Amino acid sequence: MVTNDDHAAVLDTSDAWIVERTGIRQRHIAADGQATASLALGAARAALERADADPRDLDLIIVATMTPDHPMPAAACQVQNALGAARAGAFDLNAGCSGFVYALAMGQAAIEAGSYRSVLVIGADTMSAVVNWQDRATAVLFGDGAGAVLLRATDEEHGVLASLLGADGAGDELLMIPAGGSAQRASPETVAAGLHTLQMNGRQVYRFAARVLPEAAEAVARDAGLSLDDVDWIIPHQANARIIEAAAQRLQMPLERFVINVDAYGNTSAASVPIALCEAADDGRLQPGQHVVLVGFGAGLTWAAAAVRWAAVKPEVQRATLHRLWRELLYRWAGLRTGLVRGINRLVGRLSTLWRRRKHGE
Ligand code: COA
Repeated sequence: MVTNDDHAAVLDTSDAWIVERTGIRQRHIAADGQATASLALGAARAALERADADPRDLDLIIVATMTPDHPMPAAACQVQNALGAARAGAFDLNAGCSGFVYALAMGQAAIEAGSYRSVLVIGADTMSAVVNWQDRATAVLFGDGAGAVLLRATDEEHGVLASLLGADGAGDELLMIPAGGSAQRASPETVAAGLHTLQMNGRQVYRFAARVLPEAAEAVARDAGLSLDDVDWIIPHQANARIIEAAAQRLQMPLERFVINVDAYGNTSAASVPIALCEAADDGRLQPGQHVVLVGFGAGLTWAAAAVRWAAVKPEVQRATLHRLWRELLYRWAGLRTGLVRGINRLVGRLSTLWRRRKHGE
């Protein structure tokens, strides 16, 4: 965990400034050896646990992230493998901090189309890998994290009622990592210039966020046939408490109906909405049958919103224990299988090199 005072010890900033301008008090940073896929895996396992679901029943795994472990392959494939989700397709989705709500809308659409019955939607980001730790204007804002939900086909009247997605690529330069992609390839010069780290125009992003958050929340509630009075909770992307306060004022909704945890995690990008959602569900604020509006906004520029009627899944305790043991077994087997497959692939690689050398008399 990194507190504001930890930042203030090495940067020209202070706890008072950060709290007053952002509401952030601390953020969590991935441990050595942890990266986005391992954070995503932890969240995925917790979601399967809560839903008491079998990983082998998953049809699709979507990881919303802009900080995958590698440019390729997708972090979602690492999660799929480690879960032993043998039947599932898996891909990453990059819509910046709107990623989780984008992925939720995609998961919902996949289920509604009828081809998929069980979709694991994860938001995960390791922002500590891409922020410039010497830049006080961005370093203090971000943290690492992951959250996940399991979507399942149902005939009951709950789940995602409506969603909307938005983008305006003209604002791409306001929030970007300039180098390391195909436009500005990684080179000693790009590294020296710090172009692999996140660059942001804070004031303009603030204005954009303060506008789209209330607009998207209102529009998606309307699309779901709800008035704002019918909405029990708004769970916005946690970037800055002031952005959320401004949105509450614009919507004329009391701040108490917003789930806010930016103080404890900072901006965890695609992870922020699912972390806040899971916390509200776990501590009992979010009750079955209640309506919740999720709103994301971020790089792209992008924004997204979803109106959800919440349904709690309470697994039967005795069966759940058996299922938990079964899942544990599956995870262990997945780990064992991974070691075996990688070992065999390496062995085959070496043997075929030897064979080729011998054939050509080297
Ligand atoms: N500590 C102390 N001073 C800081 C600072 C820090 N961590 N970061 C910036 N400052 C300084 C600036 O350098 C500036 O100094 P100057 O007036 O001498 O130039 C001053 O504080 C005011 O900067 P400004 O950018 O106007 O501050 P602000 O009130 O807009 O707050 C942000 C800055 C970044 C907190 C705010 O713009 C913001 O939250 N923007 C949205 C960012 C965001 O959410 N991004 C992710 C979206 S997904």
